Amino acid sequence: MYAYRFPAVRRKRTAPTREEPAMSGTAQDATITDTALHADRILILDFGSQVTQLIARRVRESGVYCEIWPFTADEERIRAFAPRGIILSGGPASVHDEGAPVIPEVVFALNIPVLGICYGEQAMCNQLGGKVEGSDHREFGRAFVDITEDCALFRGVWARGSREQVWMSHGDRVTQLPPGFRAVATSEGAPFAIIADEGRRLYGVQFHPEVVHTPHGAALLRNFTHNVAGCTGTWTMARFRDVEIEKIRKQVGDKRVICGLSGGVDSSVAAVLIHEAIGDQLTCIFVDHGMLRAGEAEEVVKTFRGQFNIKLIHRDASDLFLSALEGVTDPEVKRKTIGRLFIEVFEEEAAKIGGAEFLAQGTLYPDVIESVSFTGGPSVTIKSHHNVGGLPERMNMQLVEPLRELFKDEVRDLGRELEIPESIVGRHPFPGPGLAIRIPSDSITREKLDLLRKADAIYLEEIRNAGLYDAIWQAFAVLLPVRTVGVMGDGRTYDQAVALRAVTSTDGMTAEVFPFDMGFLNRVASRIVNEVRGINRVTYDITSKPPGTIEWE
Ligand code: XMP
Repeated sequence: MYAYRFPAVRRKRTAPTREEPAMSGTAQDATITDTALHADRILILDFGSQVTQLIARRVRESGVYCEIWPFTADEERIRAFAPRGIILSGGPASVHDEGAPVIPEVVFALNIPVLGICYGEQAMCNQLGGKVEGSDHREFGRAFVDITEDCALFRGVWARGSREQVWMSHGDRVTQLPPGFRAVATSEGAPFAIIADEGRRLYGVQFHPEVVHTPHGAALLRNFTHNVAGCTGTWTMARFRDVEIEKIRKQVGDKRVICGLSGGVDSSVAAVLIHEAIGDQLTCIFVDHGMLRAGEAEEVVKTFRGQFNIKLIHRDASDLFLSALEGVTDPEVKRKTIGRLFIEVFEEEAAKIGGAEFLAQGTLYPDVIESVSFTGGPSVTIKSHHNVGGLPERMNMQLVEPLRELFKDEVRDLGRELEIPESIVGRHPFPGPGLAIRIPSDSITREKLDLLRKADAIYLEEIRNAGLYDAIWQAFAVLLPVRTVGVMGDGRTYDQAVALRAVTSTDGMTAEVFPFDMGFLNRVASRIVNEVRGINRVTYDITSKPPGTIEWE
């Protein structure tokens, strides 16, 4: 179901420079750390790599809590976080660039283990008295390192004398080690592919251990966090749940909380967690705009009222939304109309409840990471995603955001911990404007929504039956605004066409087409044409993102 996000909490920043270190400390509130929960924590300083988030994923998968901060984070903040170790990410800069990112001095002053990855390694060497040079032998993609010495990073993973696959991405390379360091592995393009100063517990790798193309990368990171930095790996979702419940109780006291429930993963998990913490002080508002998939509204009501006994207001506002959308064909107007009405209806229902001081939101960690980007330039609005605008400010409420430290997969794990049904926890993402943007360049009517719902339900049923649902990021049908001629039995048909879409993705930013076999597609097509009166043609969308987007509008 839909996942409205309110832009007020998005703190993503672009194009910082060293002269403009405004990010340091600005979102300190974005990192609610808890000593009991996160005694074992690792800090990742981001130098702008595309894959910094993967470092955090790998570290957390090994049971260690970590946060990603920009390299501009200030000393006091880093000291207060008290990490057991620091990982310096890669990044696109060269240490020789004017204004190149610099590792804060406190990183070395803390006397804790440090692991530099790619740019992180180069910057470390540069700052500690080594030498980094541009190289004719750039290495991008798969490469091999020869293990020449023993090293704490290799324990139980790599042995001296072996040759191991890694993923490289560097132009510059270290050509002279700082005092105290030795090389423990080499590659064709980098004589100092892995370096170590075991006295000071400083390590550097010229490749990306966080990506899957470095097959043993996760184990190397684990060696760093567990063996070198001494983390015990006790960060689990069960523990997170207990501590978070205490935090919610402390924050909310005896006040009341309202939560917009959509049936999507984030709002569902947030609602159930908050309900465990404060019971009936929570009221959920489910604004049903009439553009959900088949059976979803019923499932939300059944699950949250029935199974979890949560106070739930189900407002069927479909008439309101559909009449406002009458004749609207432009995608942005559709999105904005739905966003505006959603807020109005939500506010109306909240006012009826009265007296709530807190608004719950399913904000996730990727929304609050203060990202570092060197791409600069103006960003073009492709779609006004999530822009339902400013609800928290308008309503003048304090926010309860119990998921803001979690990645999506972790939210799903927490949902399982909370015994939320798999049909909700494992559900594909669904856009806020719902099926309205799956009826492209056309106006929305109940009849068209019904046609689309039926086709979509058959498609998803077949995907589930084939055991493919979890292998796909998102799959859905799109009702096309064309009528085509067909033949059924002895008669002529002149009906609408649907397009089927299914993609794989890790974050929705890029996507690949899912490679169904033709037998599967034939089966779905024939079921849709036979069972949905009004549809006589089925196509499969084979556009990746980019250049396409996942949704058609
Ligand atoms: P696109 O179509 O931009 O979609 O490739 C990327 C991801 O975002 C979802 N999406 C939306 N989510 N409001 C939302 O909450 C929206 O207006 C919206 N438009 C697209 C889309 O389903 C995919 O997961």
